[in-house]
Amino acid sequence: MYNNILSENSNPDGSGVVQIITINREDKLNALNIELIQEIGIEVARLNKEKSVRGIIITGKGTKAFAAGADISEFANFGETEAKEMSSKGGAVFTSIEESEIPVIAAVNGYALGGGCELTMSCHVRIASENALFGQPEVNLGVPPGYGGTQRLAQIIGKGRAMDMLITAKSINAETALDFGLVTQLVAIEDLLPTCIKYVEKLIGKSPMAIAEVIKCTNALYKNVDGLQYEIDSFAKSFETTDFKEGTTAFLEKRKPNYS
Ligand code: COA
Repeated sequence: MYNNILSENSNPDGSGVVQIITINREDKLNALNIELIQEIGIEVARLNKEKSVRGIIITGKGTKAFAAGADISEFANFGETEAKEMSSKGGAVFTSIEESEIPVIAAVNGYALGGGCELTMSCHVRIASENALFGQPEVNLGVPPGYGGTQRLAQIIGKGRAMDMLITAKSINAETALDFGLVTQLVAIEDLLPTCIKYVEKLIGKSPMAIAEVIKCTNALYKNVDGLQYEIDSFAKSFETTDFKEGTTAFLEKRKPNYS
């Protein structure tokens, strides 16, 4: 179905609550070409439309790289017009991941450089293996990041640390990424996917509607909107939903909620 990614349900019969998108260019350290990024966008949009899974995991094929950046061989001869198209169309996909109503977890299994680091940052949660390495080395190539790296890195780890990484092109290892809050959990490489799958499975008992609203409200902090007002409206609207009725009724009846 896709040329550059794999997309598999956690249950071979398709009934699992987790969908795993694997960047499938291991011989190129999963470098992100333009088509690949669009394929991720199409798949995330499809999953959001179908709403049959409770979480999406994005990872890289193999044990060496999540993604070692945008595909340098593809853009090396681009001019300004092509670069703008690459950055805006690719960037739109990264934003669509950030705005996915289904949580997206980056399972970071090695190099996450340049566009690879940017892709992890467009996900809602980052869980990394001990060999993960994060960095924005674009200045070595004579460009700034083009898939939101300057914005999201500063949002996640703070402006000072982000500036330091962006200006120097220095990479940080998994422990430093944990210390900086760029990742929230560090595990052995063999435990990475099982940990991410368990993370999503724990969401089964929680309201999908409320999770989607949490994502929208939290993202509102970084958009040109009044985030507190956005939260008030979101909170109020949720009172009219079946998820709210089910969640509160289940609590009062001392049973587990059953969200469809
Ligand atoms: N774009 C295109 N191809 C890439 C790539 C990228 N970002 N990163 C790695 N590759 C390719 C290499 O060209 C090589 O292909 P080849 O076997 O056909 O020559 C293959 O992946 C393996 O990479 P290699 O450099 O041989 O592996 P390594 O273990 O020696 O080094 C890195 C690993 C990550 C340090 C090195 O590949 C690298 O610096 N990559 C570029 C990182 C970068 O600048 N990313 C930001 C891009 S905007």
